[in-house]
Amino acid sequence: MEAGGVMTSIDADGKIGCAMPVAAIVPPVCSDGEVHVWFAAFGPKDPGPKAFAGLLDPQETARANRFMFPHHRERFIRAHGILRLVLAAYVGVPPAQISFTAGSYGKPMLANSDRFEFSLSHSGDGVAVAVSTGMRIGVDIELPRDMNDRDEFVRRNFSAGEIAAYEATGLPDRDRAFFQFWTRKEAFLKGLGLGLSRPLDSFTVGLGTPVALDAPGDGDWSLHHLDPGDGFAGAVACDHPAPALHGWRLRFEANTLTQMPHGRGRSPNLG
Ligand SMILES: CC(C)(COP(=O)(O)OP(=O)(O)OC[C@H]1O[C@@H](n2cnc3c(N)ncnc32)[C@H](O)[C@@H]1OP(=O)(O)O)[C@@H](O)C(=O)NCCC(=O)NCCS
Repeated sequence: MEAGGVMTSIDADGKIGCAMPVAAIVPPVCSDGEVHVWFAAFGPKDPGPKAFAGLLDPQETARANRFMFPHHRERFIRAHGILRLVLAAYVGVPPAQISFTAGSYGKPMLANSDRFEFSLSHSGDGVAVAVSTGMRIGVDIELPRDMNDRDEFVRRNFSAGEIAAYEATGLPDRDRAFFQFWTRKEAFLKGLGLGLSRPLDSFTVGLGTPVALDAPGDGDWSLHHLDPGDGFAGAVACDHPAPALHGWRLRFEANTLTQMPHGRGRSPNLG
């Protein structure tokens, strides 16, 4: 698929090549078997949470206001604002009119349309939204960070095959290996909709690309490497053996604030 002469396909290297302004998201038709991934990384000059707060519904606003630390609250607001802007472009309603229901383990689903599936992930100042039709999907991004108990976490939680692969990885590469495992495992769990109610050692993911997935009894799932940029690790899981992956990096421009189709009104306590 091409957009403005730039290939939007995400290949084995996981890179997202195409950019699109946040103020004018125009998604292509999403056909069965396709996954569309949208990624944004907020920098200091990009719109702050006030630009997005008016898009959120009362439940999201209440959740935002429960964060103890302002930076957590602000990241949540921006992530949910981006989610709404992306979904609104697919569904064809204003972002503030997007509404959600939740599955039994908390997986959010669109109430406006039973055509689109989506998954949201946010970490640090990054946000990823994946959209598909006709198949379940999960996306996960993580900003790698130091973890004192990383090796112990792997030994206690990962499958035997993953522990062996992790321990065979040289020390300098273990950070990268850990966050690849983490995002791949979490993308799969988010796709299933089970979150952490499913034991982490009940399935095995690989470290290479294409990404191996051994999850007996779960059907035709596949896992895909995502390298969204800005230092983030990432993965996408799909209930399809060979989906076509497309990706866009959302860009903020000087006029983003005035162009963004939002309703101003409710405003979470932005400190
Ligand atoms: C959903 C979950 C699996 C992922 O959370 P996370 O990686 O911390 O955060 P992400 O930003 O990637 O994903 C959160 C989003 O997933 C979605 N989500 C929530 N429950 C979900 C579920 N059961 N299935 C799918 N998606 C779900 C929501 O959109 C949520 O966003 P919100 O909290 O802003 O509403 C969560 O259950 C969790 O607690 N994870 C703990 C992290 C951990 O220890 N992981 C070990 C991996 S090796």
